[in-house]
Formats: sequence, structure tokens, C-alpha cells
Amino acid sequence: MVLKGKKILIGVSGSIAAYKIPFLVRLLVKKGCEVRVMMTRPATSFVSPLTLSTLTDHSVDVDFFDHEKPQKGWVNHVDLGLWADVLILAPVTSNTLSKLASGKSDNLLTATFMSSRCPVFFAPAMDLDMYHNEATKSNIEALVSRGYHLIPSESGELASGLEGEGRMAEPENILAAVELRLSASLPLRGKKVMVNAGPTKEAIDPVRYIGNHATGKMGYALAKEAARLGADVHFILGPTDTAFDLEGMQVTRVVSADDMYAACAQCFPEVDIAIFSAAIADYKPKEALVQKIKKSDADMHIALIPNVDILKTLGNKKQKGQMVIGFALETENLLDNARKKLHTKNADFIVCNVSGEQTGFAHDTNEVWILSEDKKEVHFPLKDKSLLASDLWAYFIEHID
Ligand code: CTP
Repeated sequence: MVLKGKKILIGVSGSIAAYKIPFLVRLLVKKGCEVRVMMTRPATSFVSPLTLSTLTDHSVDVDFFDHEKPQKGWVNHVDLGLWADVLILAPVTSNTLSKLASGKSDNLLTATFMSSRCPVFFAPAMDLDMYHNEATKSNIEALVSRGYHLIPSESGELASGLEGEGRMAEPENILAAVELRLSASLPLRGKKVMVNAGPTKEAIDPVRYIGNHATGKMGYALAKEAARLGADVHFILGPTDTAFDLEGMQVTRVVSADDMYAACAQCFPEVDIAIFSAAIADYKPKEALVQKIKKSDADMHIALIPNVDILKTLGNKKQKGQMVIGFALETENLLDNARKKLHTKNADFIVCNVSGEQTGFAHDTNEVWILSEDKKEVHFPLKDKSLLASDLWAYFIEHID
């Protein structure tokens, strides 16, 4: 999850362990990463650039000048470094390690390392005695002290025939170390988040219901973004036909407001942050008939009774440290009406949907205001719901106690 969609640059230097890099590339591609590889010239003797370019679907960069690309002969190490969300240097030979530690940039790999701004991981690979040499130890310490992430070498049979420490970590272990480190730095790591979304359907008889046009897209975008930011997400979704990629979150599907209430009430006491974005039907038929209503010439009246107000009920049970976020859908007096909801429902924030041609139910874009008790209203202009979700989370995270 944490790696999905990430741009990963791998820097390979000249060790026999380079033969394992195609396996690392495949693991990263399977995780949904876009992968590029750069190599030192000696590394190309251990694993073929053709193999790596085939697996990554990108050309492999080796030298500052690529004479096979006449229109773009200069491989720009600054662009390459900025392209990467994560740089993995594996294997790192003793020679490359000493260049990294001393800041020498005499090849594309070391120059790109020097100009990168993203998290950098390095996995040394060398023979037993080289690995234990004091110079190697101090080079590793120098890199770790500057914030680069060491993926320690493993013990086992070495290419020299000796047994001991110095083998590059296995590709699975490199992947696990990168995932662990990246998820540890996510802002919602360790937080439990509940999001409800979608419409509800209130049965009139076995074939008819009262519902609304909500699709759950805004709530989904918030749940997905929370999961991407490291939260443990419980997504409670009403009956929508919209297909969502629900990977990485716990999901409960519900139909009526009563079902939605039961699912939210069970989850709420455990969560740190609860977002109520669902468009709950305010009323339900007093009685859901077991048999289909037959038509007649007379007018039809259906007695309705109010549904439970889920946000209000749970908002008023809020414990210290919990953050409660509601939504408001208004067709007039947007901010005044929404402010009343903030108070009556005991929410920390109300996200007010601005009505417009490209906002609200079923649209992929939205525009909102956020209201809170003691802070000024904040406007979030029209944008794609997934981008808006990212802006809203940045705002909420800033206000977590
Ligand atoms: N809400 C809820 N339970 C309900 C009705 C609404 O939890 N029975 C929540 C919504 O999920 C939303 C907020 O309350 O977070 C405001 O919903 P909205 O439809 O804008 O307002 P209502 O409270 O239903 O009031 P009105 O329809 O009169 O504007």
C-alpha cells in the first residue's frame, strides 16, 4: 500500500549480488511502483541492462552521456534524482560506499545520490573482511548519521567461498525494510479512522425504497487517502453502484440508516478520527411492508418516521482525543446552516459542500468550506475529489491534538 504508485530509482554497483536486482525490480513492480534503474559501468558485467530495461519498461542509465540517444545525449542526474520518490542503492560495493560517504560524484550513480532529495536506502554487499574493515564501518556510520537508511548485510555463503556477514540483503528483505521505514513516517500511522459514505435505502415494501443520489465518492476519497497516509481505516459504505478499489481498508457494507448506525456505533468507541460523509435518509417508512403494495386509483400516503441522527448521537458521545468530522449539504444559507450542525452534532469540523454544476453527488470534483468552533472558515476550491481529500487530510492532521 505504502509503495503503490511510488517512483523508485534503483542504483546498482558492481557486485555479484547485482544478479538479484531483477527480482527486486519484479517485487516493486508487483507492488504498483514505477521503477527505473541506473548502474555503474562495472555493474553491467554482472547483470544485463537489457534485462533491467525490459523489466522496468524504462531505459537503464549508466553514463552521463548516452550516445544511443542523440536527441537527449546527456543523462541529467539532477532530473533523475528529482524524479525518484525513493532511491534504493543495492548492491553497494565497498568502493561505492566510500564514494557515497565522502561525497565523491565521479559517475552517474554517485552524482544522482548527491543530488537526490528523497529517502535513500543502501544495501551493502562485499566480502566478510571488507565488511568488517574499520573503514567500511565508519563509511556506513557516516551515511546513517546523515539520515540515509541502512539495509544491513546478511550472513551466509559469500562469492569468495567464505562464510559470514557481507551478503546483500535478499530482495524480499530490502522490500520489507523500505515498506517498514516509509510507513513509519506516515502521518496517520497508528491512528484508527472510520469513514461512512454513500446513500442509505429505506424499505417501503420488498421492491421499493426511499433513497438519494449519493454515490460515496467523496467519502471513498477520504478513506483511501487515510489508508495511504498510514491509518487503519474502517470504511462503512451504503448501497452504491459505484465500484471502488477497497484494498487496504476494512469494509462494512450496509443498506439502511439503521444498519449504518449499528455499524458506526460499534466502530466509533475505538477510533481516533470519525468522518461522517454519508447521505443518510432523514426519514424511513413507519413500517416496511412484507408484501408489495398494490396500486389503486386513490392517492397514496406513506407515514414516515425520523431516522436516528448518527453523527449527532455519536458526536455527543465523543471522548477526549477523538476527532469528529461531519458534512453538510445545504441549498441555501450554507455557512449559517452548517454552523448550526457543528454545534448540535458536537462535531469538531463540518465540511460544507458548495452547490454547483461540478460538485456534490456523483461528480468526480468537489468544492467545500471547512467550519470549526474556534477557527476561521477555510475554503477549498473546486478540484478532483482525490486531490481534495489529500488537502482536507493535510488540514485535519494539522489539527490533531
Ligand atoms: N447525518 C447523520 N444521520 C442522519 C442525518 C445526517 O449522521 N440521520 C450526518 C451526515 O452524514 C452529515 C451531517 O449529519 O455528516 C449533516 O447531514 P445533512 O444531510 O447535511 O443534514 P441533516 O442533519 O440531515 O439536516 P437537513 O437535512 O435538515 O439539512
